Amino acid sequence: MSLPPSFLDELRARTRVSAVVGTDVKLIRAGKEFKACCPFHDEKTPSFYVNDQKGFYHCFGCGAHGDAISYLVDGRGMGFMDAVKELAGKAGMDVPAPDPRAKERAEKRAGLVDVTEAAADWFEEQLSGIEGGAARSYLEKRGLDARTIKKFRLGLAPDDRGKLKRALDRFGVPKLVESGMLIDPEDPTREPYDRFRGRLMIPIRDPRGRVIAFGGRILGDGEPKYLNSPETPLFDKGRQLYNLDLAQAAARKADRIIVVEGYMDVIGLDRAGIGEAVAPLGTALTEDQLRLLWRLSPSPILCFDGDAAGQRAAIRAAERALPQLGPEQSLSFVELPQGQDPDDIVRDGGPDAFNRLLEEPEPLAARLWRHEAGAGPLDTPEQRAGLKQRLLDHSRSIQNPSLSQLYREDWLARFDALTGRQRSSGGGWTQRKGRWVPPSPPVGDAARSLSQIGVDAPTIEALLYGYARFPARLAHDGELLARLPMPDRRLAGLREKLLDAAFSAESLDKGDGLPILANEGADSPSRPVMGFSFTRPGSDPETAERDLAATLDAILASAEIETALEAATKRLEQELSDEAYAEQQRLHRLRDENRERLAALASVE
Ligand code: UTP
Ligand code: MN
Repeated sequence: MSLPPSFLDELRARTRVSAVVGTDVKLIRAGKEFKACCPFHDEKTPSFYVNDQKGFYHCFGCGAHGDAISYLVDGRGMGFMDAVKELAGKAGMDVPAPDPRAKERAEKRAGLVDVTEAAADWFEEQLSGIEGGAARSYLEKRGLDARTIKKFRLGLAPDDRGKLKRALDRFGVPKLVESGMLIDPEDPTREPYDRFRGRLMIPIRDPRGRVIAFGGRILGDGEPKYLNSPETPLFDKGRQLYNLDLAQAAARKADRIIVVEGYMDVIGLDRAGIGEAVAPLGTALTEDQLRLLWRLSPSPILCFDGDAAGQRAAIRAAERALPQLGPEQSLSFVELPQGQDPDDIVRDGGPDAFNRLLEEPEPLAARLWRHEAGAGPLDTPEQRAGLKQRLLDHSRSIQNPSLSQLYREDWLARFDALTGRQRSSGGGWTQRKGRWVPPSPPVGDAARSLSQIGVDAPTIEALLYGYARFPARLAHDGELLARLPMPDRRLAGLREKLLDAAFSAESLDKGDGLPILANEGADSPSRPVMGFSFTRPGSDPETAERDLAATLDAILASAEIETALEAATKRLEQELSDEAYAEQQRLHRLRDENRERLAALASVE
């Protein structure tokens, strides 16, 4: 049975190799990649690399190399179709049923490409022929040179209902209709006629560079400005990107990929020497298009017009990206000056003007924050609650648990800073010694807080005791410590004092020996019974400080895991899917690992 190449491409795009390999071996993050001890040969030090972006693994020790499918085939001995079925199941895709006509369809598509390719040739001829004068001067006025016109195969559709039909009659009317070149009127008494008339023709190419469709721009002013090919067996607007074939290589060289709004922007940028730009095809960016972009860069730059429509499109793309965000899978944004598109910018100021705008793109978290915070007034509690709700909803739609947590923290800190300053008292971030610090989370009843962080009160107390002994660490850890929910009022008060002291310089100079809380009497932490290095008298300060940071880290991780686990459990109750189950199991394992980590820290002899 043969599977269409597009299905396999899609499957590969939706599958993270690390997720497949990661169930067999322990992966360690190494920059953009993961490494591990090779599952294909016996080794002690890792020489096996997994790169999700490129979609493959490679072992420098034994040369094993392949993608997610070949991993299952070679590594686990599965049959090809079983491997495909397993991965497709996880990716939520249906494996196409065995289809004896698949080959036939592929042949038919190839036949249609012959039509669109021939149409592109013919449009090019029309542009350079006697009828092309007006179109040529239009292009010249727009600053496009002969080289660019040739490279992008720009052409002209003459203003006539039957010229293309006659010129390409060797293909027969049905193929001309199916490829989108002719319009077939509903009315059977009327004959099919040329779709594109009196338009500058911009061929749309597939990733292999073959023309599969067209965008037709009106010459000068008029409506509609662009007429595009309809969806055909060749052309799927939501799954293709304009100029992807040429931009791929340029993107690797430039180490960035730029998404602009229009065909003419892509062409204008290329003319200015910036080849790494693509555009959607007259629709909003889809998940499929985002996946194509992420193969080229961990953070594609969306460079849309500064007008309302452009920015709405940018925000829509940001929201689409949220569920799939990952450490190496994000977006960044550049908002162009009002009334100027990339084409205008390079025409006026050359590539430098455009590159300057792209120097510091706005990260996704900041862009969405700016959008939501600017969406309306924040004068009433209801309006502020609305903003907070939208931010929490956005962070919740991020599937990656730790990223979801980090987005929430980032946004809530911004929210507190914004609303705190506006209200001028209470609630928000406060300034300590010139630094903004977040408010302490409210003290809930002990039970709730404890289940929230999954750590018991004595551990928290030991941690605070440790920071009291080694206050120098608070300069680094203070802000993190401030976010930790406290099991009761006493410990919350203690933490408050520590943080206050941390931001006053004198107390940091005093050195070891409970300098901060020496005079606190009843409030000071009783010497914890647990055996952390930082609670033992006379322990090595370096070890103690290192363990202190590690303990805080583990407690924060625990809080994060508990939150994610709660969400995963809820999801599992709702959907009962394998995926939700796997996620819950994964979090249980993470929780066990983290508990072991804490236990090890707490049992220093
Ligand atoms: P723009 O109006 O920004 O186009 O629309 P542009 O590429 O900058 O064209 P010029 O510079 O005015 O010649 C952006 C994109 O939106 C789609 C097209 O894909 C266009 O490139 N579009 C626009 C349509 O599909 N139909 C339209 O009527 C207008
Ligand atoms: Mn334009």
